[in-house]
Amino acid sequence: MDLHLQGKCSYVTGGGSGIGRAIAERFSAEGARVFVLDRDEAKGEETVEKIRAGGGLAHFKHADIADLESVRHAIEPEAPVDVWVNNAGVSSIGAIEETPPEEMDRIYNINVKGLYHCSYVVLPIMRKQGGGVILNIASLVSKIGVEDRFAYSMSKGAVLTMTLSIARDYISHGIRCNCICPARVHTPFVDAYLEKNYPGREKEMFKKLSRAQPMGRMASPAEVADLAAFLCSDRAAFITATAYDLDGGTTLLR
Ligand SMILES: NC(=O)c1ccc[n+]([C@@H]2O[C@H](COP(=O)([O-])OP(=O)(O)OC[C@H]3O[C@@H](n4cnc5c(N)ncnc54)[C@H](O)[C@@H]3O)[C@@H](O)[C@H]2O)c1
Repeated sequence: MDLHLQGKCSYVTGGGSGIGRAIAERFSAEGARVFVLDRDEAKGEETVEKIRAGGGLAHFKHADIADLESVRHAIEPEAPVDVWVNNAGVSSIGAIEETPPEEMDRIYNINVKGLYHCSYVVLPIMRKQGGGVILNIASLVSKIGVEDRFAYSMSKGAVLTMTLSIARDYISHGIRCNCICPARVHTPFVDAYLEKNYPGREKEMFKKLSRAQPMGRMASPAEVADLAAFLCSDRAAFITATAYDLDGGTTLLR
């Protein structure tokens, strides 16, 4: 299926790793020009190199999404912003009693305020252009209660409701806004969690986490990227204000 991303100018936050990298690569494969935003320069440049090695057009932009000015500086003034993917995010483990105020602030500043900063800067540009697409990476915790994820759930619930709010407010400007709600996806995000919390038991816990999803496995970043490319393409022109489960049945079959 031709996804009509040729010539589109796209941005992917957190494009230096995992899901963001897979989305950046997939967008490029569909013909888009990709700006890879990340606070980690080495990883962001690695994504760009991979895309260029495959013949694609990609550029790295350093940005910490928790900082509004840093996001502003990352936008290329001479190019349109056709597609923006709010993917960068960090995890947090613990029930409310294991979540001190500093941890609550850290997660809020990146996962909630970061998405706000990016959208705040990008929406006026899209409005002036006469349209655009924003895609947010939420989570299954946006919709269901998962144990020991208090701060993370707070943040991903906000990603879902910010998606709906933006979709509502900008529908008349030709701007679509959707989010994807993945269950566990095998990325460095998961590996870092296992290393930190289960040192020496990573393999055992990886299997346990995989079995906890009805299909007995985690999603791959490429599977998220497939849906992302579709939702950001003109093929999805009638789709806005949706929260797609990409979860191997986890949300409804538990
Ligand atoms: N992996 C999963 O199981 C899973 C499931 C559901 C949702 N998600 C969401 O998907 C998104 C990507 O997750 P991933 O697993 O690919 O993570 P990852 O840790 O592999 O990659 C995240 C990237 O974001 C960057 N980043 C983090 N904070 C940033 C900041 N303040 N400014 C700029 N860049 C920043 C990191 O440097 C990294 O390159 C996150 O929002 C996460 O919450 C992940």
